[in-house]
Amino acid sequence: MIISGKDLSAQMKADMAVEVADLARKYGRAPHLVVLLVGEDPGSVSYVTGKAKACEAIGIRNTTIRRPDTVSEAEVLQLIDQLNADDEVDGILVQLPLPRHIDEDRVIAAIRKEKDVDGFHPLNVASLWLKQPCTLPCTPKGIIRMLKSAGVQLEGKRAVVIGRSNIVGLPVAKLLLDENATVTIAHSRTRDLPAVTRQAEVLVVAIGRPKFVTADMVADGAVVIDVGVNRDPQTGKLCGDVDFAAIEPKASLITPVPGGVGPMTIACLMENTIECFVRKMER
Ligand code: GUN
Repeated sequence: MIISGKDLSAQMKADMAVEVADLARKYGRAPHLVVLLVGEDPGSVSYVTGKAKACEAIGIRNTTIRRPDTVSEAEVLQLIDQLNADDEVDGILVQLPLPRHIDEDRVIAAIRKEKDVDGFHPLNVASLWLKQPCTLPCTPKGIIRMLKSAGVQLEGKRAVVIGRSNIVGLPVAKLLLDENATVTIAHSRTRDLPAVTRQAEVLVVAIGRPKFVTADMVADGAVVIDVGVNRDPQTGKLCGDVDFAAIEPKASLITPVPGGVGPMTIACLMENTIECFVRKMER
């Protein structure tokens, strides 16, 4: 069976549209998300366009600030200071990756933690690992939401995450652990990766290599979550990190690319923006 992130995110967005209309009546304005996009990376441009469309559909005010990839780090930091101070900005998202001459860690740390809708600020990351209230990173949050909506019981399950990035691998491993799964984090230096992934009852793949996971790496009946967004080198079409056609018959549940994790990430970003807005209005 296929877990449709497209359908689930559409339901979430419909619910949020109603909620945002209520909030706008209650507080006199809608939540406001500001996205900073540096450069013209096609992947980043497409994400940012998706975010803007979702905001429009839900009634969240959206501002996209674009700068050329020659922008200085000082200018980016100054922009963030302005957005931090602006009472009518509820969420700030800096699209990653940034050009190499800009220190990503410094930029992320400059965002006020209360406006960090990505959940990337060091204080949000710390709160996640300490199991304290925080803004959850969007992709991991969306993955757990999909698993729960599909009725997957995580308690006691063997979960394997391939990839250890700050954006996906590490936080999704922590969220799976919080659901009482037994979690293994595999990566490029893992010895005999197929032997490790074949143990997985739940397999989350976030490595960014087209069709890296082949059928021999997956156990019968596994739940497979594909976070990859790649171009198939042969066909030029969008594809995941998982060889979907070969694995779909073996898996009990699998997410497609496109229409799987991607739309859930955006829906969770919308949720985070609403949460930041509500917390601010209630402070
Ligand atoms: N680049 C790839 N994924 C993400 C994300 O979730 N947030 C931001 N800001 N940049 C990204």
